[in-house]
Amino acid sequence: MSLVSSGLIRQKSYINGKWIGDDSHSLVTITNPANSEEITQVYQLGKNETQTAIEQASKALSPWKKLTASERASVLMQWYELIVKNTDELAELITLEQGKPLAESKGEITYAASFIRWYSEEAKRVYGEVITPHQSDKRLMVVKQPVGVTAAITPWNFPAAMITRKAAAALAAGCTMIVKPAPDTPLTALAMAELADRAGIPAGVFNVICGDAKQIGETLCDNPIVRKLSFTGSTPVGRLLMAQSAKTLKKLSLELGGNAPFIVFNDADIDAAVAGAILCKFRNAGQTCVCANRLYIQADVYDEFAQKLKLAVEKLNVGHGNVEGIDVGPLINSVAIDKVEKHIADALSFGGELLTGGTRQHGEQFEQGNFFEPTIIKNANNKMLIAHEETFGPVAPLFKFDTVEDVIKQANETEFGLAAYFFARDISTVWQVSEALEYGMVGVNTGIISTEVAPFGGVKSSGLGREGGHQGLSEYLETKYICMSI
Ligand code: SIN
Repeated sequence: MSLVSSGLIRQKSYINGKWIGDDSHSLVTITNPANSEEITQVYQLGKNETQTAIEQASKALSPWKKLTASERASVLMQWYELIVKNTDELAELITLEQGKPLAESKGEITYAASFIRWYSEEAKRVYGEVITPHQSDKRLMVVKQPVGVTAAITPWNFPAAMITRKAAAALAAGCTMIVKPAPDTPLTALAMAELADRAGIPAGVFNVICGDAKQIGETLCDNPIVRKLSFTGSTPVGRLLMAQSAKTLKKLSLELGGNAPFIVFNDADIDAAVAGAILCKFRNAGQTCVCANRLYIQADVYDEFAQKLKLAVEKLNVGHGNVEGIDVGPLINSVAIDKVEKHIADALSFGGELLTGGTRQHGEQFEQGNFFEPTIIKNANNKMLIAHEETFGPVAPLFKFDTVEDVIKQANETEFGLAAYFFARDISTVWQVSEALEYGMVGVNTGIISTEVAPFGGVKSSGLGREGGHQGLSEYLETKYICMSI
């Protein structure tokens, strides 16, 4: 049976082990960003169904958290196995609704599945503490317990992995979860729900609700039963969710916008830096929160780096993600294209020089899609919008710098602090810069840092909390102190 049937069928949400949605609900059309064709329609659920999902997740909590960690891990491993087994179909679905090249979509499924395996293993390693007592007739202990019913609001750029990065940690810790996927990419989420169902995850433990973002978001934030909310998306929406969650004092994990600096020092391996920049900047057509947004190149190697990057960028194949050999797919929608165009026009008006790219991709096969040429802008400077705002598209602006102090100052001159990257060989520069960058994650001599085993997250306006690693599990655990008189 197909995970999500193709064609114009109407897609339902998955609440308490049942598929919910009927003609009393309005429908939203999901389109393919590569050709604007309609893929399917999805029923839009709202406040009432969100309340039901919360109540059912609350009922499912007690039996789920009472299972041993090993028992929960066995169910999670079934989910993992099914996801791995269905990699091809899930990847096709990601490419269909999100646009990324099929090879990247397969990579995302592997990445998504890795969180489930990791957290099913980590669940067995949740430790408490015994504290040396302050009085001789007292014994003091600390235990860890699941926080309870949790919710996740997930983005379109990683329709599978951003669900499992949250849900696997939540479920492994003994929490239940309601996921609201991005409106552009609900199908991958629904397919994940189908596999969760087949894996035997009990009804109510994992729920996926599609629909009105405002109604669902507000209901999740307002309801005191929901004890934690995890969100990946923009900083303004993160702020709004934080304000809305204040009434019920929820725990929050917020993985928000970035404005990643990518620094190349004079002593760097320039070929490695170019390869790193290609991965870091053009993966997912530049639509990741950890994408290089500002490339700072030290003066002596500026021209060499620019020329080598130009050669590499001009080799990138832009096209429909389901075609073999494509490196860069479409952007998610026309609003994303508009932002890229605005950033380029603004950069050129402040003295930027177009080294390659700069326009929408031309040609018959691109006409109906949201394709943009991979672009490099030389002579970038601080007056440009691109220096301050996340572009979320395939544009690499090259800034020139002279000293370590200069570049650290410029790199940190932003409200964001998610990821930063640099390429250098001198060990003292490596330590100095790693420590001085005000970011939650730093890549040294690499353009790819994401993995299930390490904590992912930012500082400043890039958010709160960490996902991945053992830190990601503790976000779903409460600390309880027990004081016993003997
Ligand atoms: C993101 O863009 O939010 C996630 C990127 C990643 O996990 O590598």
